[in-house]
Amino acid sequence: MLDQRVLPTRVEWIRYDSAEEVAQGIKDMVVRGAPAIGIAAAYGMALAALHNQDPLKADQILRQSRPTAVNLFWALDRIKSLPENTFDEILNESKLIEQEDLKMNLAIGKNGATLIPANANIMTICNTGALATAGHGTALGVIRSALANGKNIHVWSCETRPRQQGLRLTAFELLHDNIPFHSIADGTAATLMAQGKVDCVIAGADRIAANGDTANKIGTYMLAVLAHHHNIPFYIAAPTSTFDSSLPNGSLIPIEERSSEEITHIEGVQVAPDNCPTFNPGFDVTPGSLITAIITENGVFHQPYNFA
Ligand code: MRU
Repeated sequence: MLDQRVLPTRVEWIRYDSAEEVAQGIKDMVVRGAPAIGIAAAYGMALAALHNQDPLKADQILRQSRPTAVNLFWALDRIKSLPENTFDEILNESKLIEQEDLKMNLAIGKNGATLIPANANIMTICNTGALATAGHGTALGVIRSALANGKNIHVWSCETRPRQQGLRLTAFELLHDNIPFHSIADGTAATLMAQGKVDCVIAGADRIAANGDTANKIGTYMLAVLAHHHNIPFYIAAPTSTFDSSLPNGSLIPIEERSSEEITHIEGVQVAPDNCPTFNPGFDVTPGSLITAIITENGVFHQPYNFA
């Protein structure tokens, strides 16, 4: 796995030989982003089969790695339902999950690009690009596709504290693709909207409930409220593997709480007082009522959402 914890300043790969190690890699966020977590978990099951590890145990350990992104459980369910559970079969299914994700992202990009004006300042949060998926990306994929369609795009990329996926990873991808952008501190979003410098917001998703309520990186809900106040379209871009139709609404989505250190330390350096109390949920839930449209590989959906 490409170690996303040390990008963009270091490019390091980590080798994994067991499902347990892959689960730890997901937990530690060596790999992150909902679709990428699902793909990694499927390959983790292939490793378990290769080394004759107990598949039930491997499945359980991988399921416990991170709670919010439903793609993880979706991918593991797919592996679990295979008729033979041989190494070859699991490896093939994992490759299929990966290839399908890339196809879905390209379709999301194509569908989403139709919503983007010819000249657009687009705000986004976290990293939803190639690093978070099998390639192209979801929200970032829409931006890539709009650009490929000849639109004049500029991106406002939110830093995304505490782990800075926007500053580290989205900026890395935008620079790589030569996409015009500025990285901003999360608190700058309101000012830019008030100044009329944001034409739309596009975010990804970790789990979408039947009524359209959407869990995504902490800070997404704040952007949706701001966008609503300033009358700016707010879009979610996600593949159908991110939908959880078993949950009627977002209050039932499990929200991961991460370590206090993510708040109190930056790059391993303590910046808060000793024993500083913290609260560090990794995700928030944006009500479907604040989402202008949900962009999927199957098309663009509008309110009222009903994905049951
Ligand atoms: O904690 P992370 O970095 O895994 O959170 C990622 C996000 O919230 C993304 O927006 C989401 O998974 C969609 S990635 C295409």
